[in-house]
Amino acid sequence: MGSMSQPAPQPAKPTERMEKIVSLCKRRGFIFQSSEIYGGINGFWDYGPLGAELKRNVKDLWWKSMTKLRDDVVGLDASIIMHPSIWKASGHCDTFADPMVDCLLTKKRFRADQIEPQSGIAYFYTGAKDEATGKENNEPFSALLAPGKPAESARKVATQFYTQRGLENPTLLGERTEKVENSTQYNPENGALLTEPRMFNLMFKSHAGPVESEENAVYLRPETAQAIFVQFKNVLETSRQKVPFGIAQIGKAFRNEINPRNYTFRSREFEQMELEFFIKPDEVVEKQCGTVATLPENGAPADPPQANWGWEVWHGYWVEQRMRWYESIGLGRETLEQYWQKKDELAHYARATVDILYKFPFGTQELEGIAARGNFDLTQHQTHSGKSMEYFDQEASAKYIPHVIEPSAGVDRLLLALLCNAYAEEEVTDEKGKTEMRTVMRFHPRVAPIKVGVFPLLRNKPALVEKALQVRDLLRPHMNVFYDDGGAIGRRYRRQDEAGTPFGVTIDFDTIGENGPELQETVTLRHRDSMQQERVKIADLLSILLPQVQ
Ligand code: GAP
Repeated sequence: MGSMSQPAPQPAKPTERMEKIVSLCKRRGFIFQSSEIYGGINGFWDYGPLGAELKRNVKDLWWKSMTKLRDDVVGLDASIIMHPSIWKASGHCDTFADPMVDCLLTKKRFRADQIEPQSGIAYFYTGAKDEATGKENNEPFSALLAPGKPAESARKVATQFYTQRGLENPTLLGERTEKVENSTQYNPENGALLTEPRMFNLMFKSHAGPVESEENAVYLRPETAQAIFVQFKNVLETSRQKVPFGIAQIGKAFRNEINPRNYTFRSREFEQMELEFFIKPDEVVEKQCGTVATLPENGAPADPPQANWGWEVWHGYWVEQRMRWYESIGLGRETLEQYWQKKDELAHYARATVDILYKFPFGTQELEGIAARGNFDLTQHQTHSGKSMEYFDQEASAKYIPHVIEPSAGVDRLLLALLCNAYAEEEVTDEKGKTEMRTVMRFHPRVAPIKVGVFPLLRNKPALVEKALQVRDLLRPHMNVFYDDGGAIGRRYRRQDEAGTPFGVTIDFDTIGENGPELQETVTLRHRDSMQQERVKIADLLSILLPQVQ
């Protein structure tokens, strides 16, 4: 028994779809604006009850696939604030920066490489004078006049600029005009001149200890990876691992992004799930095995890993492993794309980088980067710390600094992808022929925040309630259960559809034996996506549900 469903016309415009997702996230307690009662804070987000469960599931599944189900990866949980020399060695102090420009009028800051080129007539001034007081300002300024606008609007911007500089009633001096094509020197919002680009470091800075001096400056980590490199030797010595092996870590990272945007996609505080997988340099593999394997045509090397794999095959292996993991949590290959960075786009240390992209409503954007980083990081830390990062490989009788393959994923971006992927609207018709719209979050049962809703048909029948509580207690030690006895059963189903709960169990009069002994101790099991209901024995519930939610 079940009602009919057909997909409703999905919101046509991507922005409309995104707005609906954002609104559901707030309404159902997936994501809240951080510090909302104080007006919020740009680039920071909080996860509500459902969001916190979703996030935990995603992190647990990553951890399980990376560490528990493998012999060759171990975990690490490092501090967020580390010795500042780490960020000098890694290059973050010098190069982790974006070019920034400021509007000379409003002080608004933009990323120089994100300014849209504009054309028009630029109005230049050598300065301005206040005739009444005789006060003069000789700072040059210019404003861009967009095509079709009156010259007065450029003069108005310039007048505002000199007023801000302390002239009460400025008369503009030395006006001249010039045609400008595709310029990025002007604020696209008001035409005012921008400052020259200045590099702005994205690391959040603080001070360790009571004195706010440069000597005590510390940084909130902008990536979790560096802690793995600096603990490489300790982990190696305590874990009895041999190269090739990996170290995995999940944790917060902080970047003072200039333009946080697209909801949680680019935030200032976020979480990363990173693996640094240490491998032998190709020359050591060649010495040991005679040859170094090449990547098969389809780019996906066979499992399990082989001794003759060089960096290229290991890199291809991790790209494929990560794609399979995304599939296992409901992001099918058709929702993802791979972007192989071109030679001139690669970071200076990277030999190859593949980005796994998800087709978000606001564009196809990066979820994870998988980089072949050579031995850059360990070598840098060896140089800067003076401590050896060399590994003695007994099998190969060789000493070397291991190379590394790094799959690096963002938890928050993945959550956003899962939310976007799950969101659906459809028209449903019940048994009485009544049609209504239902919003349903089609999460894969593995990531779904709540796995099963348990519903007594009526809350005022003690026998139904007692049985329903027994079913709840049977399932609860194994999965996240939501017990709901409020309102009509149809409304309870809809509430769980919106939360993305894949299963619903209803305890009715058959369950308590009122319609004969055959159906006693059975319940209806409702499936979220098809809305089909089947009659199952309470005793079978765990064995039906567990394999689907784990
Ligand atoms: N250790 C390598 C590294 O950090 P990255 O490409 O800068 O590489 C890796 O970051 C992942 O972290 C990205 O693919 C993305 O999922 C996530 N990420 C980076 N910056 C982010 C931000 N501002 N907000 C949310 N997630 C971010």
